[in-house]
Amino acid sequence: MADMSLLILPGDGIGPEVMTEVRKVIDWFGTKRNLTFDVSEGLVGGASYDAHGTPLTDETMAKAQQVDAVLLGAVGGPQYDELDFSVKPERGLLRLRKEMDLYANLRPAQCFDALADFSSLKRDVVSGLDLMIVRELTSGIYFGEPRGIQDDNAGGRVGINTQRYTTAEIRRVARSAFELARKRDNRVCSMEKANVMESGILWREEVQWVHDNEYNDVELSHMYADAGAMQIVRWPKQFDVIVTDNLFGDLLSDAAAMLTGSLGMLPSASLGNPMENGRPKALYEPVHGSAPDIAGQGKANPIACILSFAMALRYSFDRGEEAAMLERAVEQALANGARTGDLMADGEAKPLSTAQMGDAILTLLNEA
Ligand code: NAD
Ligand code: IPM
Ligand code: MN
Repeated sequence: MADMSLLILPGDGIGPEVMTEVRKVIDWFGTKRNLTFDVSEGLVGGASYDAHGTPLTDETMAKAQQVDAVLLGAVGGPQYDELDFSVKPERGLLRLRKEMDLYANLRPAQCFDALADFSSLKRDVVSGLDLMIVRELTSGIYFGEPRGIQDDNAGGRVGINTQRYTTAEIRRVARSAFELARKRDNRVCSMEKANVMESGILWREEVQWVHDNEYNDVELSHMYADAGAMQIVRWPKQFDVIVTDNLFGDLLSDAAAMLTGSLGMLPSASLGNPMENGRPKALYEPVHGSAPDIAGQGKANPIACILSFAMALRYSFDRGEEAAMLERAVEQALANGARTGDLMADGEAKPLSTAQMGDAILTLLNEA
């Protein structure tokens, strides 16, 4: 009986396409490495709305709370643009993050050597890059109250969102960043806008407090987030771990994705507090979205989703060795020239399909 449970939520657009490749990888670990997962599947986002009129049912939410790890593909799509805000596909994902209290979102940006020439930046700027962005995921302007759209009492309307952070929220995500840094190059750079936002002042003070009281062996620096965005594209290798708030982390991690060659390469782990069995509450998903422009055509790069499963092996199941094995197979496939369309210039040789890329990785796993 497997004591490792997974809930798979493929979602919308390319989500189901890339998840099919992850299923192959999961099955491979079951057959070849005796690593058996108790896998269940559910709906999220537009797929759930179409079936149930809600982007996440209470049953699926409850299931997500019980399993060791949730694997999510992507949510959203233009066919849902006109839906009421409360039932938009993205609300399903935000509910999962909030109710599971997944406050630490780990978004690594690693540049595989085979792709260094494909990045929009010069090879020497990105080659060997290994950056970890820790994005706060359950608070800030995404969730702060008051929020809404109201009359402005002057004949127009006003849209309101509130940036709000408490000491406890900042300290816990800062601890996650310092813990990660200790296992890496021991450096954390915290990003906010303390020059214009009170929440930024508190952020800076509290991160500094956690450092001084609990992690003074780790090197800490602070940067305004706008300058940080510039530095990420100027010389990204100056950073080891970046810790930042929900909205800045969303933007900075998409920018960092392009350093690696494509948004189709970037995995993520969203972690909360440990459960009774010691495993953290966890959801793993690619950083990219449902890519409506290429959905249904077998063109999507499955690597971000496959690497998200590698993160699950490492962070939920303490299987660092198997995670590294999977990462090596991805790296080797790229080194052998395997490319989906997002990793090629227009007009270059014929790209691999989503399934062919998955198969190329499986072939290398078999040879490992
Ligand atoms: P997107 O990430 O879906 O796509 C941006 C661009 O990157 C597109 O050109 C797309 O083709 C390309 N791309 C993305 N992933 C790729 C992959 N694996 N392989 C090849 N190319 C890839 O972002 P968007 O277009 O701004 O958003 C589309 C929808 O996805 C929206 O509804 C948005 O809200 C949603 N979204 C969801 C998530 C999520 O589920 N976590 C994340 C971001 C956006
Ligand atoms: C992401 C996405 C989400 C976000 C959306 C789809 C809710 O852009 O995971 O980066 O804004 O957090
Ligand atoms: Mn995003």
